[in-house]
Amino acid sequence: MRITVCLSDLGSDPWVAGLRAALPDAEVAAWAPGAAQADHAVVWAPPQAFLDEQPRLRGLFNIGAGVDALLKLRLPPEARIVRLDDAGMSVQMAEYVCHALIRHFREFDGYEADAREGRWGFRKPRRREDFGVGVMGLGALGERVAKAVAQFDFPVLGWSRTDRRVDGVRCFSGEAGFGEFLSATRVLVNLLPLTEATRGVIRRDTLCQLNGGRPGGYLINVARGAHLVESDLIPLLDSDQLAGATLDVFDQEPLDAAHPFWRHPKITVTPHASARTDRELSIAQIVGKIRAFERGEPVAGMVDMKRGY
Ligand code: NAP
Ligand code: GLV
Repeated sequence: MRITVCLSDLGSDPWVAGLRAALPDAEVAAWAPGAAQADHAVVWAPPQAFLDEQPRLRGLFNIGAGVDALLKLRLPPEARIVRLDDAGMSVQMAEYVCHALIRHFREFDGYEADAREGRWGFRKPRRREDFGVGVMGLGALGERVAKAVAQFDFPVLGWSRTDRRVDGVRCFSGEAGFGEFLSATRVLVNLLPLTEATRGVIRRDTLCQLNGGRPGGYLINVARGAHLVESDLIPLLDSDQLAGATLDVFDQEPLDAAHPFWRHPKITVTPHASARTDRELSIAQIVGKIRAFERGEPVAGMVDMKRGY
């Protein structure tokens, strides 16, 4: 079995070494133009030229949860796409979202600003009952985030494509449940995959439904930049319809240094850092998936091409 590794500019060497150690019976090498035909590829945002040169690939093992960058490409005819399932990302996502939520709810950003000025003063406590936290996407990451938020006694809501049940979470699904979900949500957390159905789902009319249509909604976007119609955000913040946003992902990454999101007082920006791929855990998971694939057994995280995730 031959495995090729193509990780755009992420640095393939440690991945090649880890895969070689875990799969001693396989030939593993970093891809370079003209390389021998491989059976499987371990990839992140590969160029089209790579796929065009590797028409015999049967498995494309993505080193992230989101496969939107892969699905934009022309794929080898037999290739199945397999994504990472959690692999150490859900706990990071839970940390990130709880941090952003609590920083906003307890107004720690305001205390930080006060501290810079040497100002001593309390802010009025807010009622957590008034801060419904709505998680869009209840998959490997969204479910963990929703359960973590529930530990802080916020009302937690979840929205998915099909009906889901999660302890401690009021679940909604599909178009029919979207309006009620948004209305009961004050802090919106996005953990959807980017598909044709979800592109641009966070836009002016969505955001204006938060918090029962009253001002005070807050956005935490940790999925993909293209879920948000970015030009809708700043006007809603400037009119005080929205209280703020924490954004980890952007339509164009890296976010241009001149982009107004960086300096807007109500926006917190991080550089797509909410949940990083853990190399050791990911290699262990991918090796298990490759072995299952080769034995003809079901492989967890196989992407359904029709759904797009
Ligand atoms: P997942 O396990 O595939 O879960 C996706 C969830 O979204 C499922 O609950 C699914 O509903 C729901 N969904 C899909 N399409 C929908 C639609 N049209 N309407 C309503 N709900 C819909 O994905 P995951 O592993 O949790 O990852 C989610 C996303 O997070 C990834 O795709 C990636 O874009 C992003 N991500 C970001 C980072 C970062 O560092 N910022 C890191 C990792 C991942 P069903 O349950 O009904 O199928
Ligand atoms: C990161 O964004 C991922 O999809 O894993």
